[in-house]
Amino acid sequence: MIKIAPSILSADFSCLADEMKKVADAGAEYIHIDVMDGTFVPNITLGSPVVKCLRKASRAVFDVHLMVEHPETQISAFAEAGADIITFHIEAARHAHRIVQQIKAAGCRAGVALNPATPLVMLEELLGEIDVALLMTVNPGYGGQKFIPSMLEKIEILHHTVKDNGFDVDIEVDGGIQAETSKLVRAAGANILVAGSAIYGAPDAVEAIRRIRGEDG
Ligand code: DX5
Ligand code: ZN
Repeated sequence: MIKIAPSILSADFSCLADEMKKVADAGAEYIHIDVMDGTFVPNITLGSPVVKCLRKASRAVFDVHLMVEHPETQISAFAEAGADIITFHIEAARHAHRIVQQIKAAGCRAGVALNPATPLVMLEELLGEIDVALLMTVNPGYGGQKFIPSMLEKIEILHHTVKDNGFDVDIEVDGGIQAETSKLVRAAGANILVAGSAIYGAPDAVEAIRRIRGEDG
């Protein structure tokens, strides 16, 4: 079952509630919220107080992607703000297993993200614990970048590992996903597709989501 997660990074930040409603009404299952701290990645986006306000405006599933150093210091704030899924970067975590437990204890689904240069082996000991594995298909930090094709093999290998071992883990991809690349990542085994510019930059969100989901035939 494919789930579409529009990234509000490409939305108009002056009216985020409307921008979220637009994509939820257009059929998106999740809202992908990119949190950047200006250190782990160069940009700064938003923090838990904003998520808390957005929560009042939407019942959608909030998929929070933490691109921050010291993610362990942010978990309770984002959980209390109304996150449903909290994903942190393995590159920013010293005690990843503990952070996963922290996220689950806070009542959220736990995700771990890997940068393009980070090998899958970094996930190995966590696959029995996590709900989501997020494979970055661009280097994190900006919307509108080009999909890195060599990530397809990484997705495929993870898909087989998950299937062959019976792990209950969704494979999420993030970066450069549009109609064409979505076909490739779906075929490789990804089932949560994040898309920012391809949805918010499109004239018609319904059509954009249908194409990314692969419903255009
Ligand atoms: C990148 C973010 C992405 C970004 C994707 O660092 O994690 O979620 O918004 O944007 P597109 O879909 O435009 O590549
Ligand atoms: Zn993201």
